[in-house]
Amino acid sequence: MEKDKGKNNKIPFDENNYTHNIHKQNERLLDRRGFMKTMVGAAGVFAVSTLPWGGLAAKELMGLGTKSHAKKKIVDIASLPIGEAAEFSYPSEHESALLIRLGENEYKAYQNACTHLKCPVFWSSEEEKMVCPCHHGYFDPKSGKPTAGPPRRPLPEIVIAVENDAVFATGVKRYEA
Ligand code: FES
Repeated sequence: MEKDKGKNNKIPFDENNYTHNIHKQNERLLDRRGFMKTMVGAAGVFAVSTLPWGGLAAKELMGLGTKSHAKKKIVDIASLPIGEAAEFSYPSEHESALLIRLGENEYKAYQNACTHLKCPVFWSSEEEKMVCPCHHGYFDPKSGKPTAGPPRRPLPEIVIAVENDAVFATGVKRYEA
């Protein structure tokens, strides 16, 4: 006891100095544990996202892929000549769309709000293209992809089914590349 006399055994307080913290070992252990948990979580996310169904889930979360909606009759085949288009709305009343008959048994349908600034795209049977009049945007009727003008993304394609001499809408493909 005598030899400690005169020495200052108090550890100076410093916020950055762990020595005043009697639980410092536990704290550091928790830090390490937290880090390991984060790493395991990140590895899990990576593993899941590389699986095929992980990719599908990611697509769905990002609004890509196909989304099914209530089936809706668009038109009777007899009333739509080859090379002509019919307007309809799908899936809601506020989402306008175009069904184009490209051949005897070839149909394509797209939501027709331009992917540039939402002007309504129409079908030009003379040019055989979908045209946006606002800034001269053009879309390929077979793929929905932009071919000229400012639009960069394709029009969302509507999934169709032909049954009982009529064409039906059943879903929407979002931003397929
Ligand atoms: S809104 Fe269609 S080209 Fe600009």
